[in-house]
Amino acid sequence: MRVAVTGGSGKLGRSVVRRLSDDGHEVTNLDRTGARRPGFAEVDLRNYGQVVDVFLGLEDRHAGFDAVVHLAAIPAPGLVPDAATFENNMQSTYNVFQAARRAGIKKIVYASSETVLGLPFDVDPPYIPVDEDYPARPESTYSLVKHLEEQMAIQLTRWDPDLSITGLRFSNVMDPEDYEDFPSFDHDARLRKWNLWGYIDGRDGAQAVARALEHGKPGFEAFIIANDDTVMGRSSASLAAEVFPNVKVVKDLGEHETMLSIDKAKRLLGYAPEHTWRTYHPLRTTPTED
Ligand SMILES: NC(=O)c1ccc[n+]([C@@H]2O[C@H](COP(=O)([O-])OP(=O)(O)OC[C@H]3O[C@@H](n4cnc5c(N)ncnc54)[C@H](O)[C@@H]3O)[C@@H](O)[C@H]2O)c1
Repeated sequence: MRVAVTGGSGKLGRSVVRRLSDDGHEVTNLDRTGARRPGFAEVDLRNYGQVVDVFLGLEDRHAGFDAVVHLAAIPAPGLVPDAATFENNMQSTYNVFQAARRAGIKKIVYASSETVLGLPFDVDPPYIPVDEDYPARPESTYSLVKHLEEQMAIQLTRWDPDLSITGLRFSNVMDPEDYEDFPSFDHDARLRKWNLWGYIDGRDGAQAVARALEHGKPGFEAFIIANDDTVMGRSSASLAAEVFPNVKVVKDLGEHETMLSIDKAKRLLGYAPEHTWRTYHPLRTTPTED
């Protein structure tokens, strides 16, 4: 497929561009920053004219796209003033969704976020593991936008029954060099309770994007995308019992099993995480997998 990846210069985007290119797709990175080279076009997604134009073609570089992967955003609360997060992220996503519709692109995969599950869980989650079955609980402007994007996707796919939009609610994105810090999380169970001790390896995040491009059906679906395990050495059951004593744990948790349920992504997308920080040697500066 000819795939436009917005935010392809970013942390998750770099893994996604690599994965989709390796899979044989023709990938164009649309980002406001990046090195000038074939496969990259500098676009400010807040500008609708630029987005619709680049979706339709770019000189002799490409003549349109079959699918859009939309990752560009200010990627967390607190990086810029809330109003700037709202303006950048909401406007960019409206422009991407709307321009895709105008350009006749029927497949969109985009980055939602685990934050809509109620992070930082100052209010207890309804049950553990959390899943996609309870209403969103955004607790920041960043997360509010992610929620509104999902609502927008529901309506746009209702307007156009052929349109497929997949929202991937990524956990905290990690690259191998980040794994060095993981053992330091263990001394305090509350340090990483804000996302139920979850993470997503960038390469597994990219796998989820690839699977969603392949398996996404017309309509809208949201999926939690995390790794199979937690960031902790301690057992998942002991963490849940200590930090969330009043929350019902609705299944027998494996020793290090994720408390961000990825069952739906496994079932409907065939998502199967391949990486875990546990097979990296934390003291090596360049981690290598066993
Ligand atoms: N990093 C995480 O832990 C995490 C967790 C959950 C969801 N997400 C989501 O995943 C996506 C990617 O996150 P990331 O960590 O790779 O972020 P990142 O900041 O590393 O990359 C985002 C990219 O988007 C580009 N961008 C932002 N606004 C733009 C605009 N108006 N026009 C053009 N380009 C623009 C930036 O230049 C950057 O290259 C985001 O949507 C983020 O909200 C990230």
